[in-house]
Amino acid sequence: MVASTLVVRVARKAKEARDICSFELVATENGTLPAFSAGSHVDVHLLGGLVRQYSLCNDPSETHRYAIAVLRDPASRGGSLAMHDVVKEGDTLTISAPKNHFTLAHDAKTSLLLAGGIGITPILCMAERLAKLGDEFTLHYTARARDRMAFIDRVQRSSFADKVVLHFDDGAAEQRLDINAVLSGAKTGTHLYVCGPKGFMDAVLNSARAHGWPEAQLHWEFFAADITARAGDRPFEVQIASSGHVIDVPADQTVVQALLRAGVDVMVSCEQGVCGTCVTRVLHGEVDHRDVYFTSEEQERNDQFTPCCSRAKSSRLVLDL
Ligand code: FES
Repeated sequence: MVASTLVVRVARKAKEARDICSFELVATENGTLPAFSAGSHVDVHLLGGLVRQYSLCNDPSETHRYAIAVLRDPASRGGSLAMHDVVKEGDTLTISAPKNHFTLAHDAKTSLLLAGGIGITPILCMAERLAKLGDEFTLHYTARARDRMAFIDRVQRSSFADKVVLHFDDGAAEQRLDINAVLSGAKTGTHLYVCGPKGFMDAVLNSARAHGWPEAQLHWEFFAADITARAGDRPFEVQIASSGHVIDVPADQTVVQALLRAGVDVMVSCEQGVCGTCVTRVLHGEVDHRDVYFTSEEQERNDQFTPCCSRAKSSRLVLDL
């Protein structure tokens, strides 16, 4: 199913921290926007066909605006630079309706929210919701330095400020986030929500698993997968099950690119293994998963993959196309 799109106006663009801008998006006709739940994101359509996902960071009870924040990443393929350098107040943008792959668990007795850098955006929205519900939670927010910490004033003035612990990588050793201590000290039944750079997320999730946290209590959202070509990437083949057609995937192309070259169009959005738009069933062969969309259990099942970024360990994959 294709999500509906909306046209919104950039009502406000503001610098929130070094290299981080926030954008307030409102309906073009002064109307209300579709409701969203904590953890939701929208796809933002940019010039040149780029589509990027940004988490909503405002209170999910608001219907008059969507707030997003974008980290300027010079290594990106243009999404964050376009948002910083091209998009300005008064512009209109086409976005998707909100989608949520990072929902709050309703049965959580208590929640532990961990945000690294720009990963604060969905976490802040979750904190707003949990605070409104009166639920028990703690938010640990870590950044490289104070001037890189977006929304610090908002957090400190919020109704949940007493539940927030701030950490700075360049600060005194005793205030830095000790992931192992936080995770090993959590109450049984706590649900963990984590968002931030890949290294931070890996460290948190690996530590949680090492401390025996049940998989069902771990929730995460990556911003962008590390899908740059890896040394040692090899060519392989994909076979279209319905036609028997075999297509070569060169070492320097993605499966989606190779399929397109052969006239087979797979719908994509993020092209980074984040959104799940391109998910395709795999009938035979061994997948080399490069996405962050599936859980590790789903990846192990080896029956579907994200052809925008994932590859093959075997010489051929047979796809249910
Ligand atoms: Fe988003 Fe492939 S297009 S996961």
